[in-house]
Amino acid sequence: MNIIVTGGAGFIGGNFVHFELKQHPEDHIICYDALTYAGNMETLADVMDNPHFTFVKGNIADRKQVDSLFRDHHPDIVVNFAAESHVDRSILDPGLFLQTNVLGTGVLMDACRKYSIKRYHQVSTDEVYGDLPLDRADLFFTEMTPLHTSSPYSASKASADLLVLAYYRTFGLPVSISRCSNNYGPYHFPEKLIPLIITQALADRPLPVYGKGENVRDWLYVVDHCRAIDQIIRKGREGEVYNIGGHNERTNLQVVKTVLKELGKPESLIRFVADRPGHDRRYAIDPTKIHRELGWLPETKFDDGIHQTVQWYLNNKPWWQHIISGEYQNYYREMYSNR
Ligand code: NAD
Ligand code: DAU
Repeated sequence: MNIIVTGGAGFIGGNFVHFELKQHPEDHIICYDALTYAGNMETLADVMDNPHFTFVKGNIADRKQVDSLFRDHHPDIVVNFAAESHVDRSILDPGLFLQTNVLGTGVLMDACRKYSIKRYHQVSTDEVYGDLPLDRADLFFTEMTPLHTSSPYSASKASADLLVLAYYRTFGLPVSISRCSNNYGPYHFPEKLIPLIITQALADRPLPVYGKGENVRDWLYVVDHCRAIDQIIRKGREGEVYNIGGHNERTNLQVVKTVLKELGKPESLIRFVADRPGHDRRYAIDPTKIHRELGWLPETKFDDGIHQTVQWYLNNKPWWQHIISGEYQNYYREMYSNR
């Protein structure tokens, strides 16, 4: 099969490219990525010579580029990871999120219709459900939870989900959607909490924790997410939404302290800073459906995953040092100075 993976030079897409080439060496993976600030060819360096892998640079919102991609590569399946993915950046510049996350999804699906693909899979997020209160540990997001978004990022992802379901109902496009909780692992861009803490702590720099650090996220090792998507695109039902998560809730402060312990760095590096506007309090996924229908369960425990992740950042310093030495400095100043 020919599988187009959009956003494959980013964090989860990059891990998915590696996963697929290893698990399904008979398939051909075509990575299509615009190489925004979040895309990194170093993430794909060790697969560039693989005869079952092709890289094409392009924007999912560009109809002409997308059309030639489909004409040249005849995909059976399209998995759309390409997105503006950072909530804080969506507060700085919402328009770009609409362009890529909503319009880009529409352009990809138009090409899927034209070239009669077998499956279009939309990689979505638990953030489309909004948040849960901190004092109701009994509540979880199911696939039936109403969409109720907080940030321009989550609103753009929810809009894309609605468009995907509309293409299923109106045009019969064979689609599926997965909504996953927070991922962590190798190749994670250092603007996000866990790699930010690792890279800052290694330089003995302050660790910005929003508000009181009480917000809760439901963490999943990225390879478990890749395995879930792999099962959905091959065995999941058309027109369905699947939640992905592993009942692994932690407050941000617990996460930061776990990383510091793993690194042998002091908690005195922690700085409580002004909160994120509209900050979602708690995410918690109920993954019953994907377990029941596809047998999926997470395999990596949080302490093991954090250990592997910290080791990866220690063993791959050039990968993240190239990132934080460039334009990232300006972003960091804009986001964190005077906070
Ligand atoms: P990322 O920011 O690390 O990577 C995004 C990739 O998309 C980059 O390689 C970038 O160059 C590419 N891209 C951006 N705009 C593009 C465009 N217009 N055309 C083509 N390529 C473009 O993101 P990520 O964390 O790997 O997230 C991937 C997907 O998974 C996103 O759709 C995100 O909403 C979703 N998701 C992420 C998480 C998480 O914890 N990171 C959890 C659930 C869902
Ligand atoms: O839940 C899935 C989502 O997880 C994905 O859809 C998003 O693409 C992904 O970025 C992630 O969103 P979050 O906003 O949860 O991730 P982030 O790493 O930005 O923040 C995690 C938590 O840590 C959140 O409560 C905000 C807090 N935080 C974050 C940063 C960057 C801090 O306290 N300090 C920080 O400097």
